[in-house]
Amino acid sequence: MITISEPISTTSPIGQPIDVLDSPQLLIDLDVVDANLERMFAPFRDKPVGVRVHFKSLKCGGLASYIAERGADGFLCAKLNEAEVLADAGISDILIANQVVGDKKMGRIGRLARLVQLRICVDDAANVAQLSQAATEAGATIGILVEVDIGMNRCGVDPGEPALALAKKIAASPGLRFDGLQGYDGHLQLLDNREEKRTRCLQSLDQLVGTRRLIEKAGIPVNIVTGAGTGTWEFVGHYDGVTEIQPGSFVLMDVAYHAVRPEFGCSLSVWTTIISRRPGRYILDAGSKAISRDFGTPSVKGRPADRVLQLSEEHAKVESNDTQVKIGDHREVIPAHCCATMNLHRNCVAVRKGKIEALWPIEASGRYD
Ligand SMILES: Cc1ncc(COP(=O)(O)O)c(C=O)c1O
Repeated sequence: MITISEPISTTSPIGQPIDVLDSPQLLIDLDVVDANLERMFAPFRDKPVGVRVHFKSLKCGGLASYIAERGADGFLCAKLNEAEVLADAGISDILIANQVVGDKKMGRIGRLARLVQLRICVDDAANVAQLSQAATEAGATIGILVEVDIGMNRCGVDPGEPALALAKKIAASPGLRFDGLQGYDGHLQLLDNREEKRTRCLQSLDQLVGTRRLIEKAGIPVNIVTGAGTGTWEFVGHYDGVTEIQPGSFVLMDVAYHAVRPEFGCSLSVWTTIISRRPGRYILDAGSKAISRDFGTPSVKGRPADRVLQLSEEHAKVESNDTQVKIGDHREVIPAHCCATMNLHRNCVAVRKGKIEALWPIEASGRYD
């Protein structure tokens, strides 16, 4: 039986120029990815600080493998399904940088802990007991990080004594190994005042590393202290007492992050086609169903004078004085938010120097479990 909703299979596009692609389609420029990885990895290569890459930005096993081959010190993710995709991609060191709660997830946690070096964040004693039971039943060990709230006001216990109390509970729980602390400064990532960001970041780190010292004083070793995102990477990475950083967006980048972190290039774009035009404007065949708008308006790659005015579901309206625009021309649109845009697509095309190098499924897109 012919399934009409499946793409028509043609000869392999590998090695072909991107013009052979239909649109809309996610593109990832591997030369830009390589430069971003080098920019992030190089300062820490000879230092006792690891770079763990956040998979919630990527969601694509092929891209994770590509990054692992270039020297990432492991991966983290926000959700259990992302950890499973990472394991399937051959990644063996995985931190779920989030709370995993509920009976329904514990079987999956146990299975994963038997396959990979698994770590999970906690901020609650009952959750520690649940994970301890899951690990014991699976005959596995799970590394646990206490999540410390260093100002974001999301998950996490307060710095100091509350974190120490939880560390003691973890250290005494069968099947669990207390590994250390996570403190994520999410509230600072997109601040555009660099000095203010640095000052507030260092204050947060005082709390995090102060908590480390308190726990060590109580005789419990703290092997991992992790935090940071693309917006605070170097402040956190160079702070004494931190052992690793955990940025993700720096790989793909987007309009919002590029405004505050221009040292990383935008490797992600959406390949689109002009489907309509009028004097002073043109319309692209991709809207908010293909380009996330939760962090604002995207831009048109290489055309700073063109301005995206509006995204409706399947259209982008672009203001432009370009009189050469033709129906059928292509444009690459750089999303305002890379992570949310990856989540909208089922696959992506890895490109180098305008030619197609690989086609990758985005296995974790559209999944929240
Ligand atoms: C726990 C945690 N760590 C690190 C990050 C950093 O990610 P990014 O580099 O995309 O800012 C995030 C972002 O949401 C996060 O939630």
